[in-house]
Amino acid sequence: MIRQWQDYPLRTGILWMGRYRINRFLGMGSYGQAYACTDMETGRTVLLKRNMPSKKELGRLLLERESRILQELRHPRIPQWIRYERRGRHEALIMELVEGDNLEHKMMAQGRTFSLLESLRIVKELLQTLDYLHQAGFVHRDVRIPNVLMQEDRIYLIDYGLSCRIGERLPEPLRSGLKETEPAAAEADVLAGSSWSAVKRRMRVPVPASDLYGLGHLFLFMMYAGYVPDEGQGERGWEEELALPQAVTHFVRRLLGQDEPGWHSAALCGQELRELMNRLRS
Ligand SMILES: Nc1ncnc2c1ncn2[C@@H]1O[C@H](COP(=O)(O)OP(=O)(O)OP(=O)(O)O)[C@@H](O)[C@H]1O
Ligand SMILES: [Mg+2]
Repeated sequence: MIRQWQDYPLRTGILWMGRYRINRFLGMGSYGQAYACTDMETGRTVLLKRNMPSKKELGRLLLERESRILQELRHPRIPQWIRYERRGRHEALIMELVEGDNLEHKMMAQGRTFSLLESLRIVKELLQTLDYLHQAGFVHRDVRIPNVLMQEDRIYLIDYGLSCRIGERLPEPLRSGLKETEPAAAEADVLAGSSWSAVKRRMRVPVPASDLYGLGHLFLFMMYAGYVPDEGQGERGWEEELALPQAVTHFVRRLLGQDEPGWHSAALCGQELRELMNRLRS
């Protein structure tokens, strides 16, 4: 109960931290809240991400980490870091606002579906951004449909709240707060089955392949948005249900680590995807 009112979104129209006018509440994740605001000092419209009051120190640590990582990144499809604000108990990460909707909203709220080639194009764009991120030494670890924004045909990768350096072991308070298990346990999950929590744990292993794995699931989510199950038909695996061209199925199974070989980089994966798309078009 207390948690609910503590985390109640800021009211539209108020001036926050004496500087940011709240224009729109955009979303509430597990640890943060995002708002579109006007920075009254610069007149610029920005994105303000605030730590969730009830999450106390964990929420604050995550936001601060996200800020430090975002500050190091400079890429046309990653929101640009602007500044980090601290006023008493309140902290906020200010970044470039991308006008557009996230893929989850497009699919769930707007009923948008994506063709095979459209979905592959989105995967291809994300591979370019991931290649940049991995070369900069980071793993995103949360490549999912709510964390991808579409602005006309531009595809942005957002939410670096769970990102870390390649191979990094998070500091203890974060590991226990986020309930992160040992990599070996995550591998065992994959072998044991594919519950969503097992999928998430696999996505959190701090290696670039985790982002390709997330991308494989993201692609399947997009294809399932347009899938109508046959009545009376029991549940089958995605390979059978989606009945994609064989080369695409193999490509996705490689992203998911279910077929060999994997890729040494997102760039090589993107290169193969481009060739695959050319073959599909001809
Ligand atoms: N730079 C941005 N421009 C436009 N919209 C954004 C931006 N960043 C976030 N959003 C919107 O706000 C939503 C929530 O932001 P984000 O994904 O960063 O945090 P979160 O998922 O709420 O928090 P957590 O760190 O707990 O996962 C996004 O799904 C997106 O719709
Ligand atoms: Mg998010």
